[in-house]
Amino acid sequence: MSAKKDSAKDLEIQKRMEQLADEINKHNQAYYVDNNPTISDELYDSLFQELVRLEQQYPQFKTLFSPTERVGAAARTEAVKVKHKIPLLSIHTETDYTAQGAYDFDGRVRRELELTPQDPPVEYDCELKFDGLAVNIRYEKGILVQATTRGDGYEGEDVTANVRTIKTLPLKVENFPDIFEVRGEVILHKSEFKRINEEQKAEGQKLFANPRNAAAGCLRQLDPSVTARRNLSFYAYGYGEVSETVANKHSELLDYLKSKGFPVADTRVLAYGPEELQNFHVRVEKIRDDLPFDIDGVVYKVNSFALQRSLGFVSREPRWACAHKYPPQEVQTVVQDITIQVGRTGKLTPVARLKPVFVGGTTISNASLHNEEFLQNMGVKIGDTVVVRRAGDVIPEIVRVIKELRPDNARDFVMPEFCPVCGSHAYKEEGEKDRKCTGGLFCQAQCVQSILHFVSRKAMGIDGIGEKLAEQLVEKGWVKNISDIYRLTKEQFVSLERMGEKSADNLLASIEKSKRT
Ligand code: IVH
Repeated sequence: MSAKKDSAKDLEIQKRMEQLADEINKHNQAYYVDNNPTISDELYDSLFQELVRLEQQYPQFKTLFSPTERVGAAARTEAVKVKHKIPLLSIHTETDYTAQGAYDFDGRVRRELELTPQDPPVEYDCELKFDGLAVNIRYEKGILVQATTRGDGYEGEDVTANVRTIKTLPLKVENFPDIFEVRGEVILHKSEFKRINEEQKAEGQKLFANPRNAAAGCLRQLDPSVTARRNLSFYAYGYGEVSETVANKHSELLDYLKSKGFPVADTRVLAYGPEELQNFHVRVEKIRDDLPFDIDGVVYKVNSFALQRSLGFVSREPRWACAHKYPPQEVQTVVQDITIQVGRTGKLTPVARLKPVFVGGTTISNASLHNEEFLQNMGVKIGDTVVVRRAGDVIPEIVRVIKELRPDNARDFVMPEFCPVCGSHAYKEEGEKDRKCTGGLFCQAQCVQSILHFVSRKAMGIDGIGEKLAEQLVEKGWVKNISDIYRLTKEQFVSLERMGEKSADNLLASIEKSKRT
């Protein structure tokens, strides 16, 4: 009798938990996807707290689509590999940045389909080429059950717990085929990238080079609660294994996914023939900087699935799609100065201090000149106007000097014979490219760099020691040798500018913890 009563109560609790999950998911969708909140924050929090409490009490009833997963499941110790049911292939990249790129692609498609000039133009779906990471997200009976990275195309990494934290992605889809794999790109919006890097800087952690690297780092994080705080985004652009056909054209598939609550980018058009492809390429280039995320080109896809099938694949790439990129962004600026940076091993690197310019989504004010040989080959003087580029949108580089714009007072830069930081002899070995400071750890610059290397994630993983702090530790003479890090005291830390008791405690705890590494 009482067992029966228990099971009736269990059933009721289970039902309540499902109901809460559904309800909260609905509000999430309204808030994050439709930008149209449907309840007050207080009410939302109370529903959420009720679910959290029930899940703590009845973990056996927790649903796979529970919104509590959005804040991150338990951390893992290592990545798990998963074989893709259907490989995630890459697409051919049109290397010709000009209009010709679109005409070449259309020409290949028409030839392959044996179309004559009298046949009507081919219908294409034009999309953005998101600069992030491809993922395959598997839904079974409408519930998100697995997410994997592309990996080598055949085998990827399980990132399910991390992908569940993406707030714009549905954890449960109503009236969805039994099996449906949605494919798309995980990216970080530029604003979020900026915020994360500011946070990294404040915590003395390494900065991410660009949103793509940051997205990769967040997606492959072993601790989903960290990912949850990083606000990744997802945009759907395709499918993998499916148990049912839901569309006959690619554009219809994306419309369908959008109607099911998946984020699909709005910048997307149908184009007929190469001229319209090219128009899209040009139009997107104009709005590129205004988009909330980075793209590295556009993608054209033959819209009809029947035509896609008859076109097929060649060397692991579909013949029906192509990426049309943009040339690397180049701008002009002035070299205001050239200074020397001393690295961990004592290497002297000349760095051009540039008049800040905006290129490829960020402001750049420095560019490495690598070494004396590079400096000579480039023939750059202080005062010169130069062309800078962010190649592959990563490290800024000087492409060339515009000699015609050289002012009369332009000055040569001569590599110093002595280290500008410690005054030791800077020596270049026969046959070597690099000039090195011979000061060792006596050189404050080398000492600072050694500390940063020592505390980095890849080494001892001591959190909270960034460049500014390392410089202070060396300037004060507290760290002359790496081992001195373990002699630092709370009093010393607290006496530093802008260092509170709590930060000092955290630092000491982190130093203490590293002893176990
Ligand atoms: S379609 C079989 N569409 O670009 C074709 N890919 O080299 C599957 N990408 O790894 C890809 N935006 O990560 C497609 N709108 C888009 C895309 C896109 C970005 C990435 C994707 C893929 C790579 C293709």
